[in-house]
Amino acid sequence: MNVCIVGTGYVGLVSAACFAEMGNKVVCVDINPQVVEKLKQGEVHIYEPGLEELVKRNYAEGRLIFTTNLEEGLAESLFVFICVGTPPKKDGSADLSYVYQVARDIGKLMQDYKIVVDKSTVPVGTADKVKSLILEEQKKRGVSIEFDVVSNPEFLKEGDAVNDFMKPDRVIVGTDNVRTAELLKTLYAPFARSREKLIIMSVRSAEMTKYAANCMLATKISFINEIANICERVGADVGDVRLGIGSDHRIGYHFIYPGVGYGGSCFPKDVKALISTALEYGYDPLLLQAVDRVNDLQKEVLPLKIINYFEPQGGVKDRVLALWGLAFKPNTDDMREAPALVLIERLTALGMKIKAFDPVARDKARDVLKDNSLVEIVDEQYDALEQADALAVVTEWNQFRNPDFDKLKKSLKAPIVFDGRNLYSPRFMGEMGFAYFSIGRRM
Ligand code: UGA
Repeated sequence: MNVCIVGTGYVGLVSAACFAEMGNKVVCVDINPQVVEKLKQGEVHIYEPGLEELVKRNYAEGRLIFTTNLEEGLAESLFVFICVGTPPKKDGSADLSYVYQVARDIGKLMQDYKIVVDKSTVPVGTADKVKSLILEEQKKRGVSIEFDVVSNPEFLKEGDAVNDFMKPDRVIVGTDNVRTAELLKTLYAPFARSREKLIIMSVRSAEMTKYAANCMLATKISFINEIANICERVGADVGDVRLGIGSDHRIGYHFIYPGVGYGGSCFPKDVKALISTALEYGYDPLLLQAVDRVNDLQKEVLPLKIINYFEPQGGVKDRVLALWGLAFKPNTDDMREAPALVLIERLTALGMKIKAFDPVARDKARDVLKDNSLVEIVDEQYDALEQADALAVVTEWNQFRNPDFDKLKKSLKAPIVFDGRNLYSPRFMGEMGFAYFSIGRRM
């Protein structure tokens, strides 16, 4: 089948490469000529395990084409996927200007029947707006060309995106048109092999499903973080509590790891956007507001522990903190809404110096933090420890899980570890002679 993908970010590029891998001809359109040029050279501008290999192979075999020209993308394609960004605006609502621009351009350029697919995360009602913008542009041209607008939200996780696309838990298709549904079923057949994996529903339900899924997951995280904070105060261990509740299959073990709060380009933005939509429709979403607030406060927990620890010893000013982990989670170089940024901001505001290491996000972090003279980003994990007063771990990269504890102890000025991801056993750390602080557990 012929597919056009507009936008080559995480969602667009992964979808394009995976569709191409199944034999479809995919034209990727991006307005950024540098990105398009790089992709033609086989250089993928985002870090995503397995993606570069897929892109290179399918490009070499002619199933993946990169262009800045939407007309070229539309020419042979039956499906046009809108995969452009929907960044948050200051008030928390999603900025849909890129989506709307693509819709207008499709209306201006389309020559024959198209299935326009909203894959970007967009608020309920966006598909209707996309439809009206395309009609508006057709009217200006004095043409009437048939098309359908479908909602097909993406559920991929950064760092595991290719796998998520190839083996999805479900594929959601929002459409009222039976023929369109059948065509999407055919396109997705290689991925959603079992029929139940492809769920057809109304356009608005599909749009809502995406937000409901992310908000549910964010709620789980804020819930366990709140439980962790209570555990700490009452002398319970959130690790044990997690196992205890997770064994009830209605709750489950997944996605209830306490930590430094959720980050990334999705949860913070999507929770805020659903709050904004609810308010717009006259509903006060109390639970979602609490989820968001708990998460903001959770990002303060680790810096506060550090500040409180050093308080009786003259404070954090001029002290050095070694920091392991900058990306918002492992296996990505994404720094968007990373809890590390809040920690760095709070501590450097008090004059603390930060020596940070991240296996992959160093360059992105250097760029984000270039104006903060108190931050140094080093290229070696153990170099971050030299002359540091303590270590804080913020991202659970595998290489931090079992470090050389003797080297760690020797390199730090004093053996103090603040663990924002509960990677180490409190008992083991105590036996090793560390002062050890984690989330929702006592030494
Ligand atoms: C998330 C969803 O998991 C995907 O299903 C969804 O498709 C995607 O958003 C999206 O809307 O595009 P992602 O943002 O890549 O994916 O990252 P997650 O792996 O979900 O992690 C999000 C944040 O939650 C991270 O900061 C992570 O550290 C944190 N987290 C996750 C916890 O603190 N505890 C957990 O138990 C799980």
